[in-house]
Amino acid sequence: LRTGRGVAHAKVILFGEHAVVHGEPAIALPIDALGVHATARPREGELTVVSSLYTGSLAAAPDLMSAPRAVVHATLDHLGLPHRDLEITVVGDVPHARGLGSSAAVAGALVRALADHAGRTLDEATYLALVDVGERVAHGSPSGLDAHATSASQPVWFEAGVARRLATRMTAVLVVADSGMAGRTRTAVGCVAEFLERRPVRGAALVAGLGALAHGAALDLAADRPAQVGAKMTTAQGMLRELGVSSPELDVLVDAATAAGALGAKLTGGGQGGCVIALVADEAGADRVDAALRAAGAVAVWHHPLGPTPAE
Ligand code: MEV
Repeated sequence: LRTGRGVAHAKVILFGEHAVVHGEPAIALPIDALGVHATARPREGELTVVSSLYTGSLAAAPDLMSAPRAVVHATLDHLGLPHRDLEITVVGDVPHARGLGSSAAVAGALVRALADHAGRTLDEATYLALVDVGERVAHGSPSGLDAHATSASQPVWFEAGVARRLATRMTAVLVVADSGMAGRTRTAVGCVAEFLERRPVRGAALVAGLGALAHGAALDLAADRPAQVGAKMTTAQGMLRELGVSSPELDVLVDAATAAGALGAKLTGGGQGGCVIALVADEAGADRVDAALRAAGAVAVWHHPLGPTPAE
């Protein structure tokens, strides 16, 4: 047994959050500038963890650590290793609970570090199943999108549990802004389920509408039509707001970005807090939108350049 290392990264959902839980497609983009690195180091004694959220015995860790703990235990069981004699370190710059996939990225980095520690390479299905153990604890009924997107290196089209690489020819800049408010994916997913029960016809129309936007956006991405992608983002935001998964803080950021010239903007991920994304034609525009987002309350802003995917 050796010191094992694993890495995964953030993601944003461009289209289809929440609708994907109800069978519609979604488009996610890897954000590899924000990463999570885990190490699993042999060390006699109880299983300990060192991270920005918690440091100490994994068995005695607070609720905050219940998803990573479930992932570590399931992975050690899969590898046939005891739940001891290990020090696990997690470091990274993916903000926690902001809709950027931090729970799946932490889980992915942990699974890889533990497999590497055991000198094993896991097949994709096993990797995803182990990440999913944590996602179930964190979110209840995850679609599996985050697990795929936090380990992908290209844009992802996700439908019916299957992820495939999405070819795009679009050049633009995606500005990601953190509202500073923790997102509540589990509550937000429950809120959509409740909407669908209370208003089935309108709910189904909104979910189908979000799916249709993902289909249309895939064509726009392939044809390099950023204005159309942006307009669809703003339309999606209206539908997500009606479903109850936006928040006043997110609405303010979306409006600030569009007023500053963004082609479109929306929340990303679970919502009810977390981040918004704004699409901008170029870096000069991104600087203007960035300033407007900060003035409207964003606590952190990242610029993510988008370009054509390499030919297969
Ligand atoms: C969370 O990043 C995305 C949601 O669609 C939940 C899921 O897909 O499991 C809200």
